[in-house]
Amino acid sequence: MSRKIRTTLLSVFISVVLFATFSLFFHHEAVSGTGFRPPATLRNPSNNVYNLNLAITEELHSRSRQVSSIPDLLPSESILLPDWEVLLLVSPENHFSSDSGNGYYCFFQNNDTSPAKFTGILPFSNRTTFKCVLPNSVRRLRPISRPILTNSPGNWPEKESEAPEMFRWGFLAYESLSTENDVILFVKGVNNRQGVNRSPAEFQCVFGNDVINGVKTDVLSSSQEVFRCLHPNQTALRRLFSGGDERIKVSLEIREQYKQREMVVVPSVAYYTPKYNVASPQEEGKSLLCACTMGYNVAKFLKEWVVYHSKIGVEKFILYDNGSDDDLERVVEELLEEHDVEKLSWPWPKTQEAGFSHCAMHARDSCTWMMYIDVDEFVFSPSWLLNSSIHMLKSFLPNTSSHSPVGQVSVRCFEYGPSNQRSHPVQGVTQGYTCRRRVEQRHKSIVLLDAINPSLLNVIHHFKMKEGYVVKRLSKEEGVVNHYKYQAWPEFRVKFRRRVSAYVVDWRKEVNPRSKDRTPGLGFAAIEPKGWASKFCEVNDNRLKVLTQRWFGLDSPTGYKMAWE
Ligand SMILES: *[C@@H]1O[C@H](CO)[C@@H](O)[C@H](O)[C@H]1NC(C)=O
Ligand SMILES: *[C@@H]1O[C@H](CO)[C@@H](O)[C@H](O)[C@H]1NC(C)=O
Ligand SMILES: *[C@@H]1O[C@H](CO)[C@@H](O)[C@H](O)[C@H]1NC(C)=O
Ligand SMILES: *[C@@H]1O[C@H](CO)[C@@H](O)[C@H](O)[C@H]1NC(C)=O
Ligand SMILES: *[C@@H]1O[C@H](CO)[C@@H](O)[C@H](O)[C@H]1NC(C)=O
Ligand SMILES: *[C@@H]1O[C@H](CO)[C@@H](O)[C@H](O)[C@H]1NC(C)=O
Repeated sequence: MSRKIRTTLLSVFISVVLFATFSLFFHHEAVSGTGFRPPATLRNPSNNVYNLNLAITEELHSRSRQVSSIPDLLPSESILLPDWEVLLLVSPENHFSSDSGNGYYCFFQNNDTSPAKFTGILPFSNRTTFKCVLPNSVRRLRPISRPILTNSPGNWPEKESEAPEMFRWGFLAYESLSTENDVILFVKGVNNRQGVNRSPAEFQCVFGNDVINGVKTDVLSSSQEVFRCLHPNQTALRRLFSGGDERIKVSLEIREQYKQREMVVVPSVAYYTPKYNVASPQEEGKSLLCACTMGYNVAKFLKEWVVYHSKIGVEKFILYDNGSDDDLERVVEELLEEHDVEKLSWPWPKTQEAGFSHCAMHARDSCTWMMYIDVDEFVFSPSWLLNSSIHMLKSFLPNTSSHSPVGQVSVRCFEYGPSNQRSHPVQGVTQGYTCRRRVEQRHKSIVLLDAINPSLLNVIHHFKMKEGYVVKRLSKEEGVVNHYKYQAWPEFRVKFRRRVSAYVVDWRKEVNPRSKDRTPGLGFAAIEPKGWASKFCEVNDNRLKVLTQRWFGLDSPTGYKMAWE
């Protein structure tokens, strides 16, 4: 056996042991699709720790006997997502790119396999992610064990009962971020979506892979999926990790006050960043206005969106990519020549609010104001048709030196219809879609990051602010958002399919093929509703078309061509 394989195996053992440590505490009942259901609790913890150590020793012995049959495999954690997708997180020592991430498979407990697709690198823990689909034959099995990620599917190298169970999306600590004063932890399945937040006093943060002897700290804030707690005592932490640079898991312990000896710790794939390693705030280097968005397969729209919003005053763009498989990478590379675009992999499904909270903290040292809009939304002011030499977007913001109480600027949205387009308009959405509904729907926000409430609470692109700050609402004459919501059918269909799939809340529930959520669009026969091309058209409004043509139109033999074509 080669040295390389032996090293890989050793790290597999270590990670398996760590997972075993974790999964022992979390029975598979722990998963909840809706709301919070605590997992089986652990009684008499010290006793279990003892048994655990024995089990680990035995496991290591039994593994070393089977070594010869193990294929070239990668240590990874895996999470069962909705729609039977499996997300694999590979240890950061193994680095991949979209090229070197080819040819991998998920190898399951019953010897079934499915192809694993490279889906990016998590920006904060440096772990490469892959996705595979859970084969039908595995869906019925209980427990569902963690698959092995391998580029040479061979024999399942361990007995079924030994492989740790998969983490379940629905009850999981999935991401963490440190500030100078505290640790922000993102946790699914503890507070419910209806806005009922449990008190911070019900929780503690736990640092360390052994949750029983981990270092614990108080939780200061609990809101949606965002929990903020104190940094752990570094001396105590170092004592746990005498080895040096080992990675430290962080999770949330739920205190059950009325039953003293019980505890529930949320399973976790999140790691603690001990040092606050972002450069100290530099007011001079800060961009006045940035834009943050979350998207999936938006490559086709991104260039137009970035070029346009740069022109009106956005200095930096932060894109949370939730698993795109289009040529986003290439488009971002291209844009980087002239624009400041940061792409972050954010594979967590249905976590738009959490992603926005994350973005607010991530960018707080580089941006003063943050605009939260989608890639099919374009901010526009009729005044720019008359005079574009003013500050445009920045004129929406209060003068920073005037100590204004405005912490958030709210801009209303007009929803555009397909405007008789049958396919994606080659000159861009601002050229192609010119007919909209009369009444504006919802609003989008530009937020002063320093004004955001520490809870990081946000609902539909609108943040809760600290005491003393107010919202400034723009009139339709001052500014609006053109939302190209109902696009040509082939585009809308793709969006619709994705949205529908997001509605399948509970992965265990059989999908009802006749459900209204699934038609039209999902399935094999996507049906275009009658008259789609002329729907949602009440007002012809080509003002942004005229403006962008003036700004970005270039002469071309066929009339004109837009700068982003
Ligand atoms: C998987 O393959 C191994 C080796 O060929 C075999 O021993 C084992 O029984 C198989 N497991 C299942 C569930 O088919
Ligand atoms: C992530 O990996 C890259 C490449 O190995 C390395 O340069 C970088 O420092 C790592 N970042 C972190 C946060 O570990
Ligand atoms: C941190 O932990 C060490 C060792 O457990 C202890 O001696 C020390 O008092 C703790 N420091 C604080 C500030 O709690
Ligand atoms: C990805 O982000 C988009 C835009 O916010 C959202 O509509 C979509 O549902 C997300 N997809 C997943 C899988 O979360
Ligand atoms: C446009 O704005 C500039 C700068 O604010 C101003 O000097 C100029 O007079 C304006 N022109 C029109 C036509 O309003
Ligand atoms: C902001 O306010 C300061 C002082 O009140 C003033 O000198 C400056 O011209 C203002 N800037 C803008 C862009 O209005």
